[in-house]
Amino acid sequence: MSTVKNIFEDARLMLEQVNAFTTTNKEELEQFRIEYLGSKGKIKQLFAGMRTVAREDKRAFGQLANSVKQAAEQKVIQLREALESAADQHIEIPDLSLPVDNEALGSRHPLSITKNKICQIFAQIGFTIVEGPEIEDDWHNFTALNTPEDHPARDMQDTFYIDKGANPAMLLRTHTSSVQARVMKSQEPPIRIVVPGRVYRNETISARAHAQFHQVEGLYIDENVSFADLKQTLYYFAQEMYGKGVKIRLRPSYFPFTEPSAEMDVYWGLENENDYRITKGTGWLEVLGCGMVDPAVLDNCGIDSQKYTGFAFGMGIDRQAMLKYQIGDIRMFFENDVRFLRQFSSAF
Ligand code: PHE
Repeated sequence: MSTVKNIFEDARLMLEQVNAFTTTNKEELEQFRIEYLGSKGKIKQLFAGMRTVAREDKRAFGQLANSVKQAAEQKVIQLREALESAADQHIEIPDLSLPVDNEALGSRHPLSITKNKICQIFAQIGFTIVEGPEIEDDWHNFTALNTPEDHPARDMQDTFYIDKGANPAMLLRTHTSSVQARVMKSQEPPIRIVVPGRVYRNETISARAHAQFHQVEGLYIDENVSFADLKQTLYYFAQEMYGKGVKIRLRPSYFPFTEPSAEMDVYWGLENENDYRITKGTGWLEVLGCGMVDPAVLDNCGIDSQKYTGFAFGMGIDRQAMLKYQIGDIRMFFENDVRFLRQFSSAF
């Protein structure tokens, strides 16, 4: 009788031990399996003890022994799964003493590179860089600059109005010349500034034209400023920008805010098909608009036109960048495609 009692006790103890077992080690789990479930294992022996059990207790003992066996089997399955999923998530601790990978630095946008170059050329001869708002009023963009009410540039076709009914009407500036008016109103001559910035026109977007583009404006006002000063300043600019041997020419033109007005061309060459295409068969490339500031503009902005004269010029940055980098489509500037932008990472 006492052996029977012991064997029941042994079985209960074994069940407790099985339930309490845990490990995070594969080998230990295998040992556990062999110890309990192996062909010479503890559970086999437990069942072997069955024959010592009295007949009326055999059923109860059998159930107990079975539950020990099931518990052990369950335990093996459960721990094996836990070990496997832990292995899946196993994170390797990196070597913290290794040098870091180089961060990929951004690169300058080709328009910024070109803008900086232009500004730097004028900064060398004493021009200060000024910026102004892209959302502008009609007065600074047009009226102050002597642009009559019925001038085609005022047409809705060209100008993006934000609030046409406001007084003055609000719009997206169509040129950086609007900043001229702001500076003349707030500063005394001598004034010597360049104004880089984005401008907007209601144009059909194509490879050559965009509704947004960039300009650099220049303005010089002092006593006795002459057209010869303008020409010499622009010649200096062209030499710095395109090289010492550059040829330029000034063609008469018209702008409402300058009188006389001119356009400056740079000689590009006419050697191959591409030169023909870019220069429309002339060999000359139009680069900027310029002229002597119309006295009416000076008066509009509170500067004594009897005492002071000045010149102004304006050029497109996008145009220059397209030529410099042989970019065939202006839209590429605004797509932010890193494959395009990355090509300028070494340029400055
Ligand atoms: N604002 C003119 C344009 O956008 C360029 C220009 C500026 C012409 C200054 C003369 C003087 O076309």
